[in-house]
Amino acid sequence: MNVKEYLARKAAAVDGALPGFINGLETSHPKLREAMLYSLSAGGKRLRPALLGAVYELYGGSFRAVLPAACALEMVHTYSLIHDDLPAMDDDELRRGRPTNHKVYGEALAILAGDALLTDAFFILASMAKTSLGKNKRGNVLKAVSVLARHAGACGMVSGQAADLEAEGFASAGKMSTAVRLKGAGLLKYIHLHKTADLLMASVEMGAALAGAPDGDSRALSAFARKIGLCFQISDDILDVTGDKKKLGKNGSDLKNKKLTYVSLFGLNSAKKKAASLMIEAKRDLRRLSGRPEKKKILSDIAEFVYSREK
Ligand code: IPE
Ligand code: IPE
Ligand code: MG
Ligand code: MG
Ligand code: MG
Repeated sequence: MNVKEYLARKAAAVDGALPGFINGLETSHPKLREAMLYSLSAGGKRLRPALLGAVYELYGGSFRAVLPAACALEMVHTYSLIHDDLPAMDDDELRRGRPTNHKVYGEALAILAGDALLTDAFFILASMAKTSLGKNKRGNVLKAVSVLARHAGACGMVSGQAADLEAEGFASAGKMSTAVRLKGAGLLKYIHLHKTADLLMASVEMGAALAGAPDGDSRALSAFARKIGLCFQISDDILDVTGDKKKLGKNGSDLKNKKLTYVSLFGLNSAKKKAASLMIEAKRDLRRLSGRPEKKKILSDIAEFVYSREK
């Protein structure tokens, strides 16, 4: 199976399961639930669930068993996108080919939809302890909860977003001295690592935790995901400038917002070279893994997809 087919299968499973989880929140406010489903059902690559699944399958398990965890991860990611698009943040009007959540439901409900997606993600993930994995895997579920909280919270994605906002304007102040460029490089690494790589690291680490993977494998997977996470965000920065907006389903607002990006700091050519080298280095990390060879191939193909994607 090629990587596009693999991703499409994982996406179909997640797309099929998400509405059931959200509609299962029976006493929730109907309009709030609608706003949550609006952004969740707009598509998206479902890359993070696929990474979780590819890692879980490395150790012989089936994706179905970890579908709640995959959906929880996608809910956290979708909340981050809803909040990222708000006027107080990137002020964007298009996401996943649709008007952004706040354009349809208003800012207040968009904020609340994000809050609910984040919180209920943990409810769904924690519920795995009493359902799909069975009693003997409770420790694995607890570990997955802790991994997701750590990478999504103040030590992870949220601080990346805070730094991203603070760095607006950094690269647009005219010609930069070497010292300033070096400072920018440090800032940019922090931003990319946290706003993006953290959730990709959470994806593979959750897959490893749920499967009970050996510690050495978990470390190699984490190093792999850190690199494809950095590669993913450099590609995102490139696509913001060069991408086909229709394919991307978003308008690209980095220039308007004077964002510090790999492209604004180092230019398009350096960005492409850096993304390529990160992809190659990431694939090298996979050599340290135990597990089934054909499944490792999928992770390697996902790294290439992250590098060469058009959306
Ligand atoms: C967009 O993520 C936000 C970033 C971290 C750059 P994706 O490109 O994975 O968005 P979807 O889920 O496919 O819409
Ligand atoms: C957003 O980065 C990352 C998160 C949502 C955590 P961007 O602001 O670059 O993502 P896009 O380009 O809006 O998708
Ligand atoms: Mg942003
Ligand atoms: Mg944005
Ligand atoms: Mg972007």
